[in-house]
Amino acid sequence: MTVNTALDGDIAVITLDRQKALNALSFAQLDALDEAIAQVARSAARGLVVVGAGDKAFCAGADIPELTGRTLHEEHEGSRLGQEVFERISRLRIPSVAVIQGYAFGGGLELALACTFRVATPAARMGLPEIKLGLIPGYGGTQRLPRLIGEGRALELILSGRTLKADEAERIGLVNRVVQEGTPAGIGRDFLVPYLQYGLPALDLARQAVQRGMQTTLEHGLRIERDLSTLAYRTADAAEGMQAFIEKRAPLFKDA
Ligand code: HXC
Repeated sequence: MTVNTALDGDIAVITLDRQKALNALSFAQLDALDEAIAQVARSAARGLVVVGAGDKAFCAGADIPELTGRTLHEEHEGSRLGQEVFERISRLRIPSVAVIQGYAFGGGLELALACTFRVATPAARMGLPEIKLGLIPGYGGTQRLPRLIGEGRALELILSGRTLKADEAERIGLVNRVVQEGTPAGIGRDFLVPYLQYGLPALDLARQAVQRGMQTTLEHGLRIERDLSTLAYRTADAAEGMQAFIEKRAPLFKDA
């Protein structure tokens, strides 16, 4: 088993575990990751933490030897597989966080970009170095990075392939926070705690409104927001949340 899934209370933890290759993602591992995501989606988990095993790397990217000697069609399908697996993470209705300890390069950083949030340890190093291999990112990096940090910064990082340290990544908004103390799974769990108090429908609809809005015009995005906020308004959790406010008590959300 190269991708492990464990449920720690309300939180699922997916561990990429192929330490001899710095947790690089082979196609078999991408399949295992896909299965792990499906398992998490079926579980009662209310948050997902993605970590790499060991202290050297979150994930060093796609498995480079495996990328050599492939036909154009095989490569196209490989890119599609990575994109689809990462897209499934980004569409999970529960919040997810990638904890970047050590290296996150290429496909490894693209995996982190597909999560709702990213946290780094001070020793983290990250980048999209595909250009150095004569490649370009193929698992969503050219699309998610500019949406996250802006076109100019994304172009600089993708065209130079340069490595960022944790503090710069935090400054430009590539990671949400740098955290010094704790195990990667513990850091991820602590990061997600504030979100566990809210109902999943509102968390999911808010994420959808932001992500879908980022893909379209302001006018269409506002339309999406109207529709999704109306859906949120009709949930039992919204009725409970507003009633609790009026009664000056804490709400009891039921994810409904
Ligand atoms: C396969 C990898 C690997 C990778 C490292 N290893 N990265 N194996 N695929 N992406 C292996 C090394 O070959 C080595 O195996 C072992 O892991 C330890 O790596 P070292 O290089 O010895 O470690 P270190 O000197 O600490 O350097 C770490 C590193 C470097 C800076 C992360 O390994 C590196 O630059 N890796 C490549 C990163 C990269 O270019 N990623 C993008 C891949 S392309 P042995 O057997 O020698 O001990 C990509 C494209 C996605 O992701 C889209 C495709 C469509």
